[in-house]
Amino acid sequence: MADKNSREGVRYQTPEIIKYVSEVHAGHDAALAQAFEVPDGIPAIQVGPSEGKLLELLLRLAGATKVVEVGTLIGYSAIHMARVLPADGHLWTIEFEPKHAEVARTNIAKAGLADKITVLVGAGTEILPTLVDKGPFDAVFIDADKVNYDKYGAWAIENLRKGGLVLGDNSFLFGELLDESDRGRAMRGFHELVAKSCDSVNIPTPDGLVVGIKR
Ligand code: DHB
Ligand code: MG
Repeated sequence: MADKNSREGVRYQTPEIIKYVSEVHAGHDAALAQAFEVPDGIPAIQVGPSEGKLLELLLRLAGATKVVEVGTLIGYSAIHMARVLPADGHLWTIEFEPKHAEVARTNIAKAGLADKITVLVGAGTEILPTLVDKGPFDAVFIDADKVNYDKYGAWAIENLRKGGLVLGDNSFLFGELLDESDRGRAMRGFHELVAKSCDSVNIPTPDGLVVGIKR
C-alpha cells in the first residue's frame, strides 16, 4: 500500500544500497569485524551493522550506564553497546549456549571490554531474577528465544528506570508475528506490554526493532 513514504513499485532497499549505507555509517574496526565473523557451528544470527550502530546511538542518547542484554551470541551487539558506556558503566549479557558464551568472552577481551561486560551463562528466565539487585537499569536489549519475549519484556519494564530503554530485536518475528503460535503470542504480548508502559515504536529494520522509553 502506497503512503507518503513509499511509491508504488519502487524498490528502495537493494542489497547494494544496504551495503553502501552500512559501510558509510557503520563500518567495522578489527574488534567488531571479529565479533561479526561467526565460526562454523554457530548460527550467524547477530544483528546487522546498522542495527548494532543504532544500539550504540540509542544508548548514548539515553545516557545509559547500566545495561542488560538477553542473547549474547558471540558478543557483537555487546561490544557495540559497552563501547558507549561511561567509565563506571556495565553491561550484563546473558547467553544460553556455553560454547557461544566462550567465543563471546574471547571477542570481548580482544575488544578491551572484559571489565565492562559480564557474560552470564544460562536461560534468560533463570538469570534475569539474579540481576534485580544491580538495577534499576538504563536499557534492556532483548535478542534471545522468541517464545519468552513477553517474560523478558515484563522483567525489563519492572527493572528499568523511568526514561530507560527497552529494545527488542526480531519484532516482526521473521514474518510470523500474527501467527497463532506460542512465539507469535509471546511476541505480540511483548509489543503490547511495551506499548502500554512506554512511549514506543517499531523500527522497520529487516526483522523489526522495538524501541520503548519507559514512562
Ligand atoms: C534468529 C534469531 C535472531 O535473534 C535473529 O536476529 C535472527 C534469527 C533465529 O533464531 O533464527
Ligand atoms: Mg535477533
